[in-house]
Amino acid sequence: MQDRGSWSSRFGFVMAAVGSAVGLGNIWRFPYYTGTHGGAAFVFVYLLAVIILGIPLLITEIAVGRASNKNPVGAFKTLAPNSRWYLVGILGVVTGIVILSYYSVIAGWVFGYIFITLSNKFSGADEQIISYIFQTVSGSPIIPLILLLIIIGFTTYIVSKGIQSGIERYTKVLMPVLFFLLIILAIRSLTLPNAIRGIEFYLSPDLSKIDAKVIAAALGQAFFSLSLGMGAILTYGSYLAKRENIFGCSAWIAFSDTLVAIVAGFVIFPAVFSVEGLSPADGPALIFKVLPIVISKMPGGLIFGTALFVLLTIAAVTSTISLLEVGTSFLIDEYNIERKRAAYILGGISFILGIFSALSCGAVGFLSKLPFLGIDFLSLMDVIFGNISLIFGSLCIALFAGYKWKVDNIIAEIESENVNFKFRMLYKVLIKYIVPLLILLVFVNFIVETFLKL
Ligand code: PHE
Repeated sequence: MQDRGSWSSRFGFVMAAVGSAVGLGNIWRFPYYTGTHGGAAFVFVYLLAVIILGIPLLITEIAVGRASNKNPVGAFKTLAPNSRWYLVGILGVVTGIVILSYYSVIAGWVFGYIFITLSNKFSGADEQIISYIFQTVSGSPIIPLILLLIIIGFTTYIVSKGIQSGIERYTKVLMPVLFFLLIILAIRSLTLPNAIRGIEFYLSPDLSKIDAKVIAAALGQAFFSLSLGMGAILTYGSYLAKRENIFGCSAWIAFSDTLVAIVAGFVIFPAVFSVEGLSPADGPALIFKVLPIVISKMPGGLIFGTALFVLLTIAAVTSTISLLEVGTSFLIDEYNIERKRAAYILGGISFILGIFSALSCGAVGFLSKLPFLGIDFLSLMDVIFGNISLIFGSLCIALFAGYKWKVDNIIAEIESENVNFKFRMLYKVLIKYIVPLLILLVFVNFIVETFLKL
């Protein structure tokens, strides 16, 4: 057996889990989903989802991981031997690889933007030039592939060395810096003309806009942003020491992740409404069109902008690492494959899959507008694996906790080594009844509405 390793401290675990959670989900996807799903109404549902579903599910994944000391597949095999629950783990491994494939495409663009900012292309650029730059980067048949290779290559290298925990050292300094930078950008954005219209769009909810689609998207976004539903947090939890307080860790992860997303919204939406020709519903391109505008209107924009894209790349890579670690730990634990080989195999598969996403933003017409569906390949992967699969995976984990492995075992795991879990009863009710019921409702509603529209 290879040594599985463990976190050097509770702080190390929280930092790694926060590193997994905080990423493009907060800064790229949250504003883009908010923009395409009606603004404040979406934010409202999202926040409810984080509190009611997100925190109990974080607790559950960490407890299942720590109790079994295994990867997601091994965890279900250990806690529910001779059953098919391990399939939930397999789904998680597959989901992780697919998310990694398209997530790295976006991370690649972010990385590329470091050099565009550095070459001073954004200073004085208007909305049209900025859009043109975005199309050139994302729609080229070569640039996105090179960027993708760099991101997946780097991720694979880190995971193959098993030095994720070394990354703790940097992230614990760099993530607060990223947060600080976002605050400065938010201040600049909030003082642009028409900012107030952005604030209204972002914060004053029109509850009549909430329908099955908005709720399903908000739920998917909450799980995506918290890295839930595919075993990433479970895997990280498997390296956590028994004396640590699982509830405390979960609350921290949820709080910091949500805070970063909310601040990102304050950077994006005021700026969107300050520029003629920009729409909050611009889709995946949103931040790539809006951030350069904020940067171009700032004193010292070159330095701030470059720093921003550097830090965003780092935030993205701490997430891609966790995506790859799930499958890697699975191959190591279950097939005794050497870490290095495991990481390279899965990184390779993910890169090949990622090629389709990388070419689906303009480079190849067929992939950019899929027949019948009308959307691009990257967005399709995001809907299936970044939303539906995570919601389904979360449902399975809640059902496993409530009805197979039993809540009392989870509570015993949380309370090992005399940790006191104050919200025991509340957690029990949530994970057993509320969480699965709400997810099921959302699922059924979503499917019915989708079919009614066909
Ligand atoms: N939570 C990460 C982000 O918000 C993405 C992610 C999803 C990472 C699922 C791991 C698992 O950027």
